Amino acid sequence: MNAELGQADRGVDPVLEAKDLVKHFPIQRGVVVKRTVGHVQAVDGVDLKLYPGKTLGVVGESGCGKSTLAKLLVGLESPTSGSIKLQGKEIGNLSNRRMRPFRRDIQLVFQDPYTSLNPRLTVGDIVGEPFEIHPEVVPRAKRAGEVKELLDMVGLSPDHVNRYPHQFSGGQRQRIGIARALALRPQVLVCDEPVSALDVSIQGQVINLLERLQNELGLAYVFIAHDLSVVRHIADEVAVMYLGKVVEQGTGPEIYDHPRHPYTQALLSAVPVPDPDLRGQRDEIVLQGDVPSPIDPPSGCRFRTRCWKATDHCAEEVPSLDVGDNGTHPTACFYAEERDVTHAVK
Ligand SMILES: Nc1ncnc2c1ncn2[C@@H]1O[C@H](COP(=O)(O)OP(=O)(O)O)[C@@H](O)[C@H]1O
Ligand SMILES: [Mg+2]
Repeated sequence: MNAELGQADRGVDPVLEAKDLVKHFPIQRGVVVKRTVGHVQAVDGVDLKLYPGKTLGVVGESGCGKSTLAKLLVGLESPTSGSIKLQGKEIGNLSNRRMRPFRRDIQLVFQDPYTSLNPRLTVGDIVGEPFEIHPEVVPRAKRAGEVKELLDMVGLSPDHVNRYPHQFSGGQRQRIGIARALALRPQVLVCDEPVSALDVSIQGQVINLLERLQNELGLAYVFIAHDLSVVRHIADEVAVMYLGKVVEQGTGPEIYDHPRHPYTQALLSAVPVPDPDLRGQRDEIVLQGDVPSPIDPPSGCRFRTRCWKATDHCAEEVPSLDVGDNGTHPTACFYAEERDVTHAVK
């Protein structure tokens, strides 16, 4: 597999790197004697590289393994196999205690700001909670001031430290979640669908905030979304996931203007087109059937059961995420070919 992130970044070491990352959840049956009757192949051989100050978008339908990948990267789940390096140090299989110093550097922003904030804690307590776990970062006497600064940084009034989550709107709650994630001054934020639970009108504001913070603090983001349009403006590179695997990865122009995998092409063709003059000009691809179960995924290429290009070969061999013959971006398809979908997201 070869998924280099950002041609311009050659020579700079990735801040976060995953290699052949796998997470299979055992399915257990039996009341007294448990036996494993199968596995959910939630993440199945993902490679990624994230460079300092850059954003990697990860896109795919519900159930394709995005949240599991996010939890693996921040150490909330341990991988079945594979490697995760943070600033060159292996963190994939560390015990909780040994993972602790690294937790500071990589933080998760949760999907749902309604359920991820403890309703009984004040905003000040929520944002300052990481200091209790990592007391070495900010001396106790300075914490209240630091919390106010964090609130100010995310566009909330520092006067609101004593309010409770229910007194804030969804967008404001996500700002609280972001302030908490920033408390320990991490290098990397893994944002798991950070705007999916918000009104469309608010989504842009939160994305703008994340972009501003990235510029000010030099943060690197793994930005997860289920829709390609959400990450279009923020991502330097995009990885498209299907059933636990990355099927295509490239820069914004490569993915949005020159998609090569049939699945990416189908996702792009489903993005609504704002300009009515362009609507009739593109061929919409309608995918047949549902996403198969990750417990018993199709042999060979996992997308083949819904793919209009599939042949017998696709059932027999797993396509690897390889660069094309003429150096085109990595695509896991035997029949990868550009298709003109440029009107789809303009
Ligand atoms: N703790 C778990 N135990 C068993 N199966 C899980 C667990 N967490 C996630 N899964 C399964 O793994 C697959 C991927 O889930 P998830 O990573 O949440 O996908 P996404 O975030 O893309 O919707 C799903 O089939 C889900 O049911
Ligand atoms: Mg999810």
